[in-house]
Amino acid sequence: MIGRKIYKYDKVGSTNDVAFIRAQEGEKEGAVIWALEQSKGRGRLGRIWVSRKGKGLFFSIILTPEISLNEAPLLILTAAVAIVKVLRKSCKKDFLIKWPNDIVIDDKKICGILTEMESEPGRVRFIILGIGINTNLKISELPIEESTSAKIESGKEVDEENLLFLVLKELDNYYAIFKKKGAEKILKEARDLCCLWGRQIKIDDGRKHRIEGTAVDFSEEGGLIIRQNNGFLKTIFAGDVKLLR
Ligand code: BTN
Repeated sequence: MIGRKIYKYDKVGSTNDVAFIRAQEGEKEGAVIWALEQSKGRGRLGRIWVSRKGKGLFFSIILTPEISLNEAPLLILTAAVAIVKVLRKSCKKDFLIKWPNDIVIDDKKICGILTEMESEPGRVRFIILGIGINTNLKISELPIEESTSAKIESGKEVDEENLLFLVLKELDNYYAIFKKKGAEKILKEARDLCCLWGRQIKIDDGRKHRIEGTAVDFSEEGGLIIRQNNGFLKTIFAGDVKLLR
C-alpha cells in the first residue's frame, strides 16, 4: 500500500509541503513524494534539513490512519522501527531509535522524521510522514558534528532508489502491523531498539519547559516516561531530547 504511487522530482522546496497540498487535494493514502534535492528542506522546531543531491534520501508519505491525535507518536515509532530494521540490514550496524524521531548510532544522527498533520476535532484527517536519511555524505560534508551517513557507517556508496524501495517495503509491513495489531507489537519492538533507557536526559518541550531525568519506558500512546530528578514520573509526548550522559 505504501509506495503504490511514487511522485519523483528533481528538486522541490520541501517534499512535506508537496505532499501536504496533494493530500488536501484528495491524494490517496500511501502516495510518496520523493525529491533528489530540496531547497527548503526542514526539520523539527524550525531547523533546516540540508538536502543536497546525491547526499541524502528525502521523501514524504501521505497516510490517513484511523487514530486520535494523542496516538500520533505511535506512528512515528512505527516508522522509526521500520527504518532502523532497513538501516541495520544494509549497513550491518546497530542503529537505534532516539525518541521521538531520530535514528542514531553512537549518538550520531543518520535519519530524522518530521510529521505534520491536518486534523478535525478529536481525529487525524491525514498525516504527512517526512523522512530524511543521510546517504552519501562524507565526514567533511556532515551538517552537524553529531551526525553520520550510511556511507560513513557501511563504507559503501548508497543507491538511493534502492534504499527508498527497501524502506517503503518495511514501512508498509510495519504500518500493516500497526493497523492490524495496534500499539502493543510496535511498542515492544521500539522498546528493544531505543537508545535512551537508563540515560540522563534533558527535554525541551518547545514551551520553555525543561525536564530533566532518566528515561524509563514508553507510555501506551508512544510518549516517553521519565523519572524526574525529584523522583516523580512524567510522560512527555513531544520535545527535543538532549543526552546528558
Ligand atoms: C528532523 O530530524 O528534525 C526531521 C528531519 C526531516 C527531514 C525530511 S527530508 C523529507 C521531508 N521534507 C522536509 O522538508 N523534511 C522532511
